[in-house]
Amino acid sequence: QVPASLLAMVDAAVGGKTGIDTAAGKNLVGAFHPPAGVVCDLATLDTLPLPELRAGAGEVVKCGLIADPVVLEQVLADPDVLAAGSPALAELVARAVAVKAAVVGRDLTESGLREILNYGHTFGHAVELNEQFAWRHGNAVAVGMMFIANLSHARELIDAELVARHANILSSVGLPTSYKPGEFDRLYRGMTRDKKNRDGKIRFVALSKVGECTRITDATKAELEAAYQRISGK
Ligand code: GLY
Repeated sequence: QVPASLLAMVDAAVGGKTGIDTAAGKNLVGAFHPPAGVVCDLATLDTLPLPELRAGAGEVVKCGLIADPVVLEQVLADPDVLAAGSPALAELVARAVAVKAAVVGRDLTESGLREILNYGHTFGHAVELNEQFAWRHGNAVAVGMMFIANLSHARELIDAELVARHANILSSVGLPTSYKPGEFDRLYRGMTRDKKNRDGKIRFVALSKVGECTRITDATKAELEAAYQRISGK
């Protein structure tokens, strides 16, 4: 694999998932087929449009939240982190790949641990579906991380400071932290279709602190709506 976008470098190229989109949804058909190797040539990012870099940064921030606090410090410390040739970006790519490689190295076929890479994705996938895939994946995941952070805070898993930290870091790289109001029913339907659900229950990866993941599998519709209202300004 020779990924030529930030998103592909830090996510899609690592871990052997291959997939295609069908009328039923994105990536619902696929197979595990690890590549012989992955070569990330950072020079390919020099011509990548900024919105694509930002979308990739969403997955980098995700890796920081689930496993590597240094990533979060580095993103916040350097406002030009996404600029062409940024040395900080090279280190962030290496750190994000290290997080993903460590996870898939222990659980390639997603029998458990790999699921943590889905942080922010349950709501994020529903946003992608609601936007008919016109949104970039990383932008939808950014909003999804804000959603799960608010749900986790309501459950007293994390404090308000960590929710605010999600927002600061994501907005520092130009990613959205809110979603339009009035869409809950459609988003809820989207979440009930997520491929990671089990036994008909919506399954969220959540944080108990930076670098430590847990799961929320028993959220009520009312709790989900309350978290949505927190990120939709209603
Ligand atoms: N992009 C999520 C995973 O590779 O498992």
